[in-house]
Amino acid sequence: MILVKDLKRYYGTGETVVKALKGVSFEIKKGEFVAIMGASGSGKTTLLRILALLDDATEGEYTIRGLQVSSLPEAERSYYRLTQVGYVFQDYALINEMSAAENVYILSMMEGKSRKESYEIALEALDKVGLKGKHSKIPDELSGGEKQRVAIARAIAKKPDILFADEPCANLDTNNSKQVLDVFKELNEKYGQTIVMVTHEPWHTEYVDRVITFEDGNLVSDEKKRNR
Ligand SMILES: Nc1ncnc2c1ncn2[C@@H]1O[C@H](COP(=O)(O)OP(=O)(O)OP(=O)(O)O)[C@@H](O)[C@H]1O
Ligand SMILES: [Mg+2]
Repeated sequence: MILVKDLKRYYGTGETVVKALKGVSFEIKKGEFVAIMGASGSGKTTLLRILALLDDATEGEYTIRGLQVSSLPEAERSYYRLTQVGYVFQDYALINEMSAAENVYILSMMEGKSRKESYEIALEALDKVGLKGKHSKIPDELSGGEKQRVAIARAIAKKPDILFADEPCANLDTNNSKQVLDVFKELNEKYGQTIVMVTHEPWHTEYVDRVITFEDGNLVSDEKKRNR
């Protein structure tokens, strides 16, 4: 589904150049749940942002379902990003003045869907993450884990090809982290959602199929955790 070949990302030029990714290659199959690990500064966020089309690689190839996205014109990249890619941030990135349902349905509304259809899509997504009955709460009335689950609902409402998450549990205690990881696992097992998640915590890898580890801009290990 995702094919990455000799991907490089350099920041700056000349003497001050930072080589965040030094040429990484790997493949992610449809339906896999992959964890990306590695020390701070090893290139995890840089990689995720490129895969989610939020940033460009300096060099290398990147294809999704055979489509060479690295060389698509910006308008098509933008369309693909909006309709096919889900992204979950460490800090939830919710709008505080809006309810859970509104935070989720705003994207469908922007796509031009009707208010009614957008609302139905939002409620279905909130159900999937276990937030039935909380759709009228605003972020301040929710726990950290619930906020992150609203953000996951927003990311999956458009039924993306791939769901990316950059340290989604970084601000959560163990209990809330488990709720969020259980949601990812269920989305993966029940709906076949392909997921790529960056994490620092070794215990999180119990939830995934495969662990890819980065060190200083290089992919240094690729380990299968369970057979599907
Ligand atoms: N916009 C930028 N400009 C310059 N350097 C950057 C930029 N973004 C990242 N870097 C550098 O690239 C390297 C990789 O950063 P990246 O954020 O990908 O690491 P990370 O593995 O996600 O780290 P963390 O675990 O702390 O989130 C680091 O040396 C970082 O300082
Ligand atoms: Mg990071």
